[in-house]
Amino acid sequence: MTLPRLRRLRPDSLAGWLAVLLLATLILSGGLLSAIFLGQRGDLGRRAAAGPALERLTEAHQQLAALSGMERQRLAHTLRSPAFHLFVGPEPLVLPPGPEAPASRLERRLAISLGERLDLFPQAAAVLINPETTDPRLRLPERPGFGWRGGRGGRGGPPRLGPDGGDGDQPPSGPERWLDHLQRQAGPAGTVLLVSLPLPDGEVLNAVAVLAPPLPPHPGTLPLLALPLLVLLGVAAVALVALRRATRPLERLAAAAERVGIDLNAPPLSESGPGEVRRASHAFNRMQERLARFVTDRTRMLAAISHDLRTPITRLRLRAELIDDEEMRERMIADLDEMEEMIAATLAFARDEAAGEDLEAVDPARLLGDLTKSFAEAGAKVRLDDRRPAGDRQPIAGRPMALRRAFANLIDNAMKYGGEARLTLLAGGDELVVEIDDNGPGLPEEALEEVFRPFHRLEGSRSRQTGGAGLGLAVVRSVVRGHGGDVRLANRPPRPPDDPGGLTARVALPANAAPARDDSPEG
Ligand SMILES: Nc1ncnc2c1ncn2[C@@H]1O[C@H](COP(=O)(O)OP(=O)(O)O)[C@@H](O)[C@H]1O
Ligand SMILES: [Mg+2]
Repeated sequence: MTLPRLRRLRPDSLAGWLAVLLLATLILSGGLLSAIFLGQRGDLGRRAAAGPALERLTEAHQQLAALSGMERQRLAHTLRSPAFHLFVGPEPLVLPPGPEAPASRLERRLAISLGERLDLFPQAAAVLINPETTDPRLRLPERPGFGWRGGRGGRGGPPRLGPDGGDGDQPPSGPERWLDHLQRQAGPAGTVLLVSLPLPDGEVLNAVAVLAPPLPPHPGTLPLLALPLLVLLGVAAVALVALRRATRPLERLAAAAERVGIDLNAPPLSESGPGEVRRASHAFNRMQERLARFVTDRTRMLAAISHDLRTPITRLRLRAELIDDEEMRERMIADLDEMEEMIAATLAFARDEAAGEDLEAVDPARLLGDLTKSFAEAGAKVRLDDRRPAGDRQPIAGRPMALRRAFANLIDNAMKYGGEARLTLLAGGDELVVEIDDNGPGLPEEALEEVFRPFHRLEGSRSRQTGGAGLGLAVVRSVVRGHGGDVRLANRPPRPPDDPGGLTARVALPANAAPARDDSPEG
């Protein structure tokens, strides 16, 4: 898997991150535990199985050390049993471990344990487990004299295992076959133990024991192993639930921050949960409060100024009437009219802002349909075309009055400057797009943005005596941005034969916004 692809799998949420972290730790520690446990279980089982044999061996060594010659041989013979063979000879069957022939850990442990019990030099005891014929520490006697004479009941003879010293099989003859026989007798899971212990007078006590296969894993073993894993899983589950609970307020905070741009008067966040979250929610609520107050203050100030300007304008108008020069008088009165119009527009805008309309589910097709209908009834050339796919026609969260006014302003401009208005509804992913096309002259590129400034009108529009106070597009942008969207103007090149070109106003609004209000109780 390549790195970018891995990156895409990377969890995005805090809870996801921690879940992955926990899971990784869990799997790692669980795997390590199991590996250690399972790795030791085999050794432990075999060590336990070797216990009785070591016990017997220790006793035999002590007894045989006290004897010598024939008596020793005789006792060795007596101490035998089908799965436990002793024979005393001049040479060891097994060599102690050396640099080229190391011993396994279990072999070392057993040897040390024997050496300690018998008070021997630790390396003196040599133990070999499940030897192979090629084992460098194995010294299988090739010739008789070591008590390797073969044949039933031969004194000091080769270990013939099974009931009464020789089983029903062909008695093994060569050393390889002897070893083979032992291993067959032990079975695949069983263990063959070869031990050589020096006796005080230089002779060596050799022992071969076939250990029973270790007991099948104790039924309690698996639960024992599963218990820590279960505990870990439980902890992980609890941690995850707790984490989700702890991070949920963060999600609410993010949603609230998103919403505050659209609805400053949304109800405050509940200030509950862990301390950090509570403080964050509190800070957020205070910020929203201050923002709302700030906006209200500004709107009030705007309204007050506009309102108070009316009185001096009225006085000016009265005085203008007294001017004798008729042309001068007309021009002054025209300017005063314009001023009044601007002030009236500003007042209207401030009033709408202050009204603080609530967000609600708005069907854009319906809203625009009503609007185009009323324009058409007034004799305007307006068309509406809903090109959204059938599955993409959900209502949006909006303030219907404000939206109506914004679109009315755009249609109004299209009529005034472009003769007709064609509205197209489009679905653009998580956006609802409304395009308003006209067939007018469009705008110079540098004016496309400027015309959104309050009272910014092109010289042409002034002299043509079209239009209003120059606040139309400013209101449009204020409303659309207040919904979390935006509006832009663009010149549309002519596309023969139907489209002579003109200006396109493109309004994009968030589509998925159901009127979300966070008053869901803490869950
Ligand atoms: N569809 C349009 N085609 C050409 N010019 C336009 C169009 N819409 C707006 N404008 C220009 O942008 C200016 C500002 O528009 P607006 O804010 O609506 O004010 P108003 O319509 O009151 O003049 C207009 O004066 C006009 O010059
Ligand atoms: Mg206008």
